[in-house]
Amino acid sequence: MGFTRRAAVAAVGVAALLTASACGGSDDGGGTGPKKVEVFTWWADGGEKAGLDGLVSQFGTACAGQTFENGAVAGGAGANAKQVLASRLQQGDPPDTFQAHAGAELLDYINAGQIEDLSADYDSWGLKQAFPQGLIDNLTVDGKIYSVPANIHRANVVWTNKKVVSNAGITTDPKDMAEFIADLNKVKAKGIAAPLAVGKDWTQLMLFESVLITDLGADKFTGLWNGATDWNDPAVTKGINDFKQLLTYTNKDRDALDWTDAEKLIMDGKAAYQLMGDWEAADLDAKGFKDYGYFTFPGNGATFQWLADSFVLPKGAKNPEGTKCWLKTVGSAEGQKAFNTKKGSIPARTDATPADYPQYQQAAIADWKSAKQVPSCAHGSACSQGWQGAANSALGAFSSNSDVAALQKALVAAATQFAKKK
Ligand code: GAL
Repeated sequence: MGFTRRAAVAAVGVAALLTASACGGSDDGGGTGPKKVEVFTWWADGGEKAGLDGLVSQFGTACAGQTFENGAVAGGAGANAKQVLASRLQQGDPPDTFQAHAGAELLDYINAGQIEDLSADYDSWGLKQAFPQGLIDNLTVDGKIYSVPANIHRANVVWTNKKVVSNAGITTDPKDMAEFIADLNKVKAKGIAAPLAVGKDWTQLMLFESVLITDLGADKFTGLWNGATDWNDPAVTKGINDFKQLLTYTNKDRDALDWTDAEKLIMDGKAAYQLMGDWEAADLDAKGFKDYGYFTFPGNGATFQWLADSFVLPKGAKNPEGTKCWLKTVGSAEGQKAFNTKKGSIPARTDATPADYPQYQQAAIADWKSAKQVPSCAHGSACSQGWQGAANSALGAFSSNSDVAALQKALVAAATQFAKKK
């Protein structure tokens, strides 16, 4: 896999964490006290933590005799958590459950034989009827279902500081790349040196994917991940050039920032725009920043770039009974409401009441039904973790060398290596 070296480096840095967790399971399985369920995520702060807390509180109500143990490892998009998890799985020390994105990323764990089939639980919990068929298809491999989705997130959204935008005389949202560039210039003319906030590798991959959706259209974009579209396509070259132009409007320290650091530039009025998934809505709410706006990335039209956080039962989990109660809670109407109202995402279940949700999510619930759905590589619905690692490295290199041909070559190579590897 492409990130073996990174995983090894991370393993050194997280040795303390691994030791702490290995020592923490004395109540699992045996004994008479409450049994622990270690839930492994990267939701450690802000809106992400608020969402997790909502789920934990519902778990407390629904799962008497079980207690939640927080195995979170901080770092946006699981940048650190996935490496810790990989070492733990390799060492035969899985948490009781961990988050995994529906789609290609989940397939990695299934193919490695690391997670259990939950098909029978789906039947007894009525989950096949609760989730949309398209999502069920993304979770199913050879007729079996291995995870329970907690939500649907949208990736292709631009978040704004309303005041910075209006100070630049901008009154409508940009509809295409030319309008977006014109607006970025207007903000820049007001003395904001880097109007478009961005962070490191995976956040740049998200921005790049949005540009590709604009330049290729939804169907051709999806084709990049299933082999139907050639990464050598001239529209990809155009996408790289457009992305290169956008980077000239971004903060120079981008490669050192996580998504929340870039978000802070928006909150502090140092930038006008940030492309980020809709966990940003929840995070801005949790941090008390109210003056934000949002629009779909210019030129994406009615395209909803989706991803779904789901939870699994790892093979060798110490407390499978407690984990099943966690998973049942995750899939339940109450659990999805407790989680998603705080997380910025929308429920994966189709029976939710939109009025229960904040305004942003109400709009997202409507868009999810009507828009064209495309997957995300940065968040595992489109590509495997190996492919994602290769794309992140290629974007990281591009951030310093701006070499269009080299980026396209690296992306072609990544597709050749990872596409359709089942
Ligand atoms: C995604 C995850 C989201 C959110 C985001 C930022 O990969 O699916 O739930 O946590 O990372 O950390």
